[in-house]
Amino acid sequence: MRLKNKIALITGSAQGLGAAIAARFAEEGATVFVCDMNAEVGQATVAKIEKLGGQAAFLPLNVTREEDWVAALAQVVERCGRLDVLVNNAGINIRETIEDMKEENLDAMLAVNVKGPFLGIKHAIPIMRQAGGGAIINMSSICGLVGHKYTTEAYTITKGALTLMTKTVGVRYAKDNIRCNSIHPSTVDTPLVQVLFQNPLRKEERLGEVPLGRLATELDVANAALYLASDEATFVNGVSLPVDGGLTAC
Ligand SMILES: NC(=O)c1ccc[n+]([C@@H]2O[C@H](COP(=O)([O-])OP(=O)(O)OC[C@H]3O[C@@H](n4cnc5c(N)ncnc54)[C@H](O)[C@@H]3O)[C@@H](O)[C@H]2O)c1
Repeated sequence: MRLKNKIALITGSAQGLGAAIAARFAEEGATVFVCDMNAEVGQATVAKIEKLGGQAAFLPLNVTREEDWVAALAQVVERCGRLDVLVNNAGINIRETIEDMKEENLDAMLAVNVKGPFLGIKHAIPIMRQAGGGAIINMSSICGLVGHKYTTEAYTITKGALTLMTKTVGVRYAKDNIRCNSIHPSTVDTPLVQVLFQNPLRKEERLGEVPLGRLATELDVANAALYLASDEATFVNGVSLPVDGGLTAC
């Protein structure tokens, strides 16, 4: 069990990558707090984890609201006494180019993708420090490392900010034994992508740019998060870990 007795909070974990990370962490012995705005789907994710023998609980959390962070983390401390792992996974992508993007959509992306992790780290650090350390994992993207023709300026702004926030936090809080790393997936195989792939041209474009010739799976990403959260990575800090089949190595 690679996360035995660890307490983990994962944002945006009702569905998608966050839910996959929550399930993988629970499988490896962590108690996971599934945090999301979508309570119904979040509760269903908790039920699935519990059915497989894992320890999980749902907490409502809109990452853009500081009072939500304070309340959620207070719950974690009240129930478990500490927090070992924070995964800032919640993120949104409004696909408008810089010329077309409405101001309110830019603000919404900055709020969820940048302010959310900022507030989470702000309030998790004192709790982790008191417990003698912790691991923070930020879900960026290949778009936080390189320019990419299928993405938008707003998405790269938010994911690039997360890449560098990760490094500064990793440097500043290393003295408290708090590590901070980011993960950078390429396109993940989800039902949404399969719809896009009904157009063979779109499929050819996306697969053609990945040296390993396939999309990332949710498990590929969850396993990367598991490694960074575990004690196997106790000397890994400030790292930007691509999970992209070699795409950003080209
Ligand atoms: N799917 C991909 O191909 C891919 C690739 C690279 C990076 N990412 C990143 O991975 C993360 C997860 O992506 P996904 O594809 O699983 O997304 P998703 O849309 O399937 O799930 C996102 C979850 O975040 C929640 N959420 C949204 N806004 C929130 C808020 N303000 N507060 C709390 N929860 C909120 C949603 O309710 C949802 O449960 C995102 O940060 C995304 O940018 C995804």
